[in-house]
Amino acid sequence: MTINEIIQKRRTVYPSSYSKKSIDNLIITQILENANMAPSHRLTQPWFFKIYKGSSREKLAMEMVDANKKSLESLNYIDIKSKKIIDKCKNSDCVIAVFMKRDPKKSVPMWEEIASTAMAVQNMWLTCVYYKIGCYWSTPKFKKFMRKYFKLKKNEKCLGFFYMGKYDHNNIESKKRISIKNKTKWYY
Ligand SMILES: Cc1cc2nc3c(=O)[nH]c(=O)nc-3n(C[C@H](O)[C@H](O)[C@H](O)COP(=O)(O)O)c2cc1C
Repeated sequence: MTINEIIQKRRTVYPSSYSKKSIDNLIITQILENANMAPSHRLTQPWFFKIYKGSSREKLAMEMVDANKKSLESLNYIDIKSKKIIDKCKNSDCVIAVFMKRDPKKSVPMWEEIASTAMAVQNMWLTCVYYKIGCYWSTPKFKKFMRKYFKLKKNEKCLGFFYMGKYDHNNIESKKRISIKNKTKWYY
């Protein structure tokens, strides 16, 4: 695949569409190696990840369910919401929790550390297209209630969950974009 094909084929693919086939750990390692090549101002390399495969997904799902209960103002529909969380973890072969570690010297602004981590996620996402892996970045409100479970330090922050599962990337339409012509101005 060319770089243009990979970028144009990238989609959010939800766990309900994943097949039950397992993703080889070597491929997951490659996805993480590519994440690690993201740029960062002053080479702070703020991203880090926790990878949940196999039965560890069940424990993760239960922690998410608990955190979700804490984040809700009303417990209406809680059973439906809890089931959705559990199903998403179950239908994924692998869930990667995405984190950002702020440089202790605060040598660059916070937004730059978040931008760098997002670039690492984009590298993962594009690598998934290449390997025909469906994936989706979820940034639920409840993640802030999982700090203890993830044993996060003061300068560390969870930036969401990257769900992955085998999927043949051919039949999901791209969501329409505003034309780039409306967002660009050329100067000569
Ligand atoms: C920073 C970020 C956070 C996102 N969080 C969520 C989320 O919490 N839930 C969700 O369904 N999609 C989430 N998405 C996926 C977007 O909804 C999706 O990228 C957008 O609709 C465009 O679709 P596409 O990825 O198929 O092009 C997130 C995407 C980004 C970049």
